[in-house]
Amino acid sequence: MNEIRRLATETPRPNNLDAFWMGFTNNRAYKSTPRLIAAAEGMHYYTPEGREVLDGTAGLWCVNAGHGRPEVTEAIKRQAEKMDFAPTFVVGHPIAFEAAARLAEITPPGLDRIFWTNSGSESADTALKIALAYQKAIGQSQRVRLVGRERGYHGVGFGGMSVGGIGPNRKQFGAMLPYVDHLPHTHAPEHNAFSRGQPAWGAHLADQLESLVALHGDTIAAVMVEPLAGSTGVLVPPKDYLQRLRASCDKHGILLIFDEVITGFSRLGAPFASERLGVTPDLLTMAKGLTNAAVPMGAVACKDTIYRAIVEGAPAGIELFHGYTYSGHPLACAAALASMEIHRADDLPGRVRAIEDYFADGAHSLKGLPNVVDIRNLGLVAGIELAPRPGKPTDRGMRVFNHCFDNGLLTRVTGDIVALSPPLIVEKAHVDRIFGTLADAIRAEAA
Ligand SMILES: Cc1ncc(COP(=O)(O)O)c(C=O)c1O
Repeated sequence: MNEIRRLATETPRPNNLDAFWMGFTNNRAYKSTPRLIAAAEGMHYYTPEGREVLDGTAGLWCVNAGHGRPEVTEAIKRQAEKMDFAPTFVVGHPIAFEAAARLAEITPPGLDRIFWTNSGSESADTALKIALAYQKAIGQSQRVRLVGRERGYHGVGFGGMSVGGIGPNRKQFGAMLPYVDHLPHTHAPEHNAFSRGQPAWGAHLADQLESLVALHGDTIAAVMVEPLAGSTGVLVPPKDYLQRLRASCDKHGILLIFDEVITGFSRLGAPFASERLGVTPDLLTMAKGLTNAAVPMGAVACKDTIYRAIVEGAPAGIELFHGYTYSGHPLACAAALASMEIHRADDLPGRVRAIEDYFADGAHSLKGLPNVVDIRNLGLVAGIELAPRPGKPTDRGMRVFNHCFDNGLLTRVTGDIVALSPPLIVEKAHVDRIFGTLADAIRAEAA
């Protein structure tokens, strides 16, 4: 038995599952049939029974360099021994500056001012606040409106939730932020089902921003979209869609925010989706792969012009009344530096580009299986949409998830859509196993 599997089997099982209220989980179903993971290495998780589970989702789209990277573990350990914590309000510590400078080397050109957060949700809310502060700083105080997109996911803070467009994530929580509007989503299976890579149909949907401008005049501060929408079940931007959105934003003085929490850190074969898709936003949010998920951390990269308008334009004193106790946490910075070095040294963007066609072939090989109504992919992301069981939406997706997990594959399901986003160190044999196991699960569920 390998060492990591032994560690998993020696992990004591919790004897009380009641206290932990799990997020985005059917707690009652889970606690009646708990599926536990106790250890991880490389491409795999290990259960307390010692079962190996291939990680088809890089945890939650975040362990991009694979699990248990010793470089990251060592960096965290060394930093913890040197200094566990220091604030970044009024005082600062070297590694927070070092990590920001290193990150600014890989962010898109011009986006070289970094604001540290601790999660994707905080990054989304931070970017929205910076956008509003910027418009005010340049004398555009009437620009208070924020625009998102249907089916968008920007985390669970009130800003990201309001600008996000996933109905179930909003409807328990009251009125949302005021002055928010939404673009239509880009999913239209009658036009773009089974597209390989970016769909040819749908660029014109970006022009809906022109209609919102006609409606709201010069009151829109910013538009926030995921370049590739992940959490809603993988929606790949149609060709030229983001270019048209960029052009509309420029024409009307609206800031464009890309939420790259999932697409950042090499997932689409470039450090950021922005580079892969050829569109540079004004602000870019990230989290997840930044530290290889070993320590929670997020960031917002902004254009220098935005930073300067807010900071140099402010009266003496604090320029932006925003920040988190753990912004630039030393352990997170250590993990981020080590993780960014792995992306460079191991050329993770290059690895993605080398295997993405094979991965796309695997995904599209599922076409024709029972209930498969669409397959979407880009880089190392794929979404397999299943027709819901009559009268039981989400049931089929959950059954496929359970079948996969019980047969050694971790997937992610959103409703009846199965999403795959393996660690970027994935090899062809893993790709075969991912789509082979998923195909078996889809067939078994239909039988
Ligand atoms: C695009 C996007 N934005 C924001 C978030 C929220 O990140 P977190 O869960 O770290 O708050 C996510 C999480 O999946 C995401 O995919």
